[in-house]
Amino acid sequence: MREMGLWWRTGFGCSLLAMSVAGCKAPDATSNSVSSGTAATSTGNASSGNDATGAAQTTSAPKIGAARPYEGKDILLGEYGSMTGTTATYGKSTHNGVMMAVDEANAAGGVLGKKIRVQLEDDGSKPEQAATAVTKLINSDNVLTVIGEVASSRSLAAAPICQAAGVPMMSPASTNPKVTQVGDYIFRACYIDPVQGRIIAHLGSQDLKAKNAAILRDIKNAYSVGLADEISKEFTKNGGQIVADQSFQEGDKDFRAQLTTIKSKNPQVVFVPAYYNEVALIARQMRSLGMQQPILGGDGVESPKLIEIGGPAVNNTMFTTHFSSESTDPLARKFVQGYKQRYGVIPDGLTAVGYDAARLTIDAIKRAGSTDRAKIRQAMATTKNFPGVSGKITLNADRNAVKPMAVMKVENGKYVFVKTMNE
Ligand code: PHE
Repeated sequence: MREMGLWWRTGFGCSLLAMSVAGCKAPDATSNSVSSGTAATSTGNASSGNDATGAAQTTSAPKIGAARPYEGKDILLGEYGSMTGTTATYGKSTHNGVMMAVDEANAAGGVLGKKIRVQLEDDGSKPEQAATAVTKLINSDNVLTVIGEVASSRSLAAAPICQAAGVPMMSPASTNPKVTQVGDYIFRACYIDPVQGRIIAHLGSQDLKAKNAAILRDIKNAYSVGLADEISKEFTKNGGQIVADQSFQEGDKDFRAQLTTIKSKNPQVVFVPAYYNEVALIARQMRSLGMQQPILGGDGVESPKLIEIGGPAVNNTMFTTHFSSESTDPLARKFVQGYKQRYGVIPDGLTAVGYDAARLTIDAIKRAGSTDRAKIRQAMATTKNFPGVSGKITLNADRNAVKPMAVMKVENGKYVFVKTMNE
């Protein structure tokens, strides 16, 4: 693990906050995005059900076989994400990044001499709806490739459908290792949780010098469970002790029973590898119980809503993310400036990986030189040193990105960049 050095610290939380308070341009305000809030259920277009890849079909997933050859006049990319529901900021941030990348590519002539369009499906932050959304994108819209999802549980519900259909899927931000293990058509533009967990554990034992810690995990969430296990393993390996390991389920609002148990063990830090709504509520209830411990989390913490919901209680929360708007990299600077001009706010980590996921997809289509999805898959698999705004991206043999991680914290109601870490 390598620390990339401490950079200057200036908050940009105001801008993130402003995004939710003042609102930013509608995410689908551009001409190239087609949005459909009601993902129609489709029964599938292939009768054989012959899943050549052997990819697991979840029982709840709608049935689908191989996709029809691509026949669009333009290049139609499918995107599915949480535009509504418990994690609506994830879908919106990501889609803003996707549309910025697509509009820039179109301004530069599109790809394969064609204009790029995006068909967006809202999955309401629900795994079952994610499966329905990609089925619709593939069966009805016959999209060339798919971008999504952010949440690992939703990517895990949809990936087997993309895999069985032979439609490349690029997840911008799902970090659970199992996502790309679904099959060779499934890629991600981000790092994975064993890496993220190691760094979060390191923040606890090295940066905060904690000898003992508690964990509070969301047992209904693949990301939370996987990341909690990694943190626990690494923190223990560093010589620390996990004195309490408590759980809840997404949507819970009262965490006081678990927090009271945790409080009685007197940990020095509390790891909460969960999504922003729950992290914000947990922080509020911790502080009201007189627990002032630092909270440590992963990429799921970051959202303009965290500070809005959590208020001063989320101060002293540190987390890993995919991008820092304070990066000095020229490409990242250009992205931040362009985004600010376009949306009036500074981009967050998800916007950056959304932007990169779309650019990786377009780059693979270009290198494939064809709308043959097998060729596009092959081009994606050989992505090397791609200049992403979230770092240089090489997709490894497991179709995961290898790149640095940003560490941020909340201080005085603002997001503050802490440092960049490398594995
Ligand atoms: N990594 C999270 C998951 O796999 C999703 C996430 C990424 C959420 C980035 C917020 C920001 O579920």
